[in-house]
Amino acid sequence: MKNSAFNDRLQRPLRDLRISVTDRCNLRCIYCMPREIFGPEYPFLPKNEILTFEEITRLAKIFVSLGVKKIRITGGEPLLRKDIELLIEKLSNEVRIEDLALTTNGVLLTEKSATLKKNGLHRVTVSLDSLNNETFSSMNGTGVKVESVLKGIDSALDSGLNVKVNMLVMKGVNENDILPMAEYFKDKRVTLRFIEFMDTGNNNQWNTEKVFTAKEITDCLRTRFELEQIPPDYSGEVALRFRYKGTQIETGIIASVSLPFCGTCNRLRLSANGRLFTCLFATDGYDIKNILRNGATEEELLTFVTGLWSKRDDRYSERRLDFIKNPGSSANLTKVEMSFVGG
Ligand code: GTP
Ligand code: 5AD
Ligand code: SF4
Ligand code: SF4
Repeated sequence: MKNSAFNDRLQRPLRDLRISVTDRCNLRCIYCMPREIFGPEYPFLPKNEILTFEEITRLAKIFVSLGVKKIRITGGEPLLRKDIELLIEKLSNEVRIEDLALTTNGVLLTEKSATLKKNGLHRVTVSLDSLNNETFSSMNGTGVKVESVLKGIDSALDSGLNVKVNMLVMKGVNENDILPMAEYFKDKRVTLRFIEFMDTGNNNQWNTEKVFTAKEITDCLRTRFELEQIPPDYSGEVALRFRYKGTQIETGIIASVSLPFCGTCNRLRLSANGRLFTCLFATDGYDIKNILRNGATEEELLTFVTGLWSKRDDRYSERRLDFIKNPGSSANLTKVEMSFVGG
């Protein structure tokens, strides 16, 4: 079956597959993997439960045949996965994918970027929340320094990878870093995107008071820069795009809380242990690993994926406030952790 024109229940096509290759990370960001929860005793996935590169590639081919245009490799921290550059090579050689991207915290990029580029990766998105070491350490929960991430970014740029930077803004924590970050990455001609803090997972103590909204972010940027809003690059893009007036340099805001974008959400997430999640805020995923390991044919795998996508009606971010206002609603169910399902 070749089918690139099937939609979910809300008429959204499947275009973007995010593949998490590990649930581990070398940072402990307070909004994602707070150390109190993700400590030495945390039950990370055992190796035999994690999809192999062959399994991932087989699934990727199926998704591409169903209309996926972009594959993003995520984690946890994907560069911690042993031989990750070989997965990139395999995907690049065997899967006809238009856009192959990877999300990373940048710490290991200096040693990996040249090989990743050589093996076929198109671009990286690096997370960095501050240029100030004190703030950065307090957010990343380790002693990792800003310098090591900046070096990783430079090395990716030198290797010829396209680079974007994501900065998560938490009210009262790093909003003072918005302007220095904007100056720094504008000078480098790198697109910096600001992300509103979301209620992902179950452990990040989120509440609306901690969200520094898109409006507050643009108000802050406009104290220093003239911005013009530009249209999305592609349907389903998560970021509102802006250009610094008189330049081709862009910045963006991912306003998943104040301006949710579920209406065009074309993303499916594959966890490292082979479960498919139709929403970042889902409670659970659909197990495709066992189907794969039990010797399913292409046809059976295609039927499984089309079946679950056709039933999909998730739009958590649009309904967040209803959920929160109604105790006993699904907001109180356990949500998958973002470090598990991929950003
Ligand atoms: P480009 O391909 O460069 O446009 O980036 P992207 O759309 O893949 O975005 P990226 O993976 O860099 O995601 C940035 C951030 O947006 C994530 O870390 C999340 O905070 C948020 N985000 C991404 N996808 C979703 C989503 O499906 N739902 C919600 N609520 N937030 C999302
Ligand atoms: N809210 C918004 N974005 C988050 N990320 C992780 N946790 C959250 C959250 N609670 C984003 C980080 C990083 C990417 C991997 O996921 O900012 O850029
Ligand atoms: Fe690791 Fe990224 Fe989560 Fe930070 S946001 S703990 S770098 S996976
Ligand atoms: Fe998609 Fe769920 Fe995010 Fe909405 S909340 S954009 S449906 S992943």
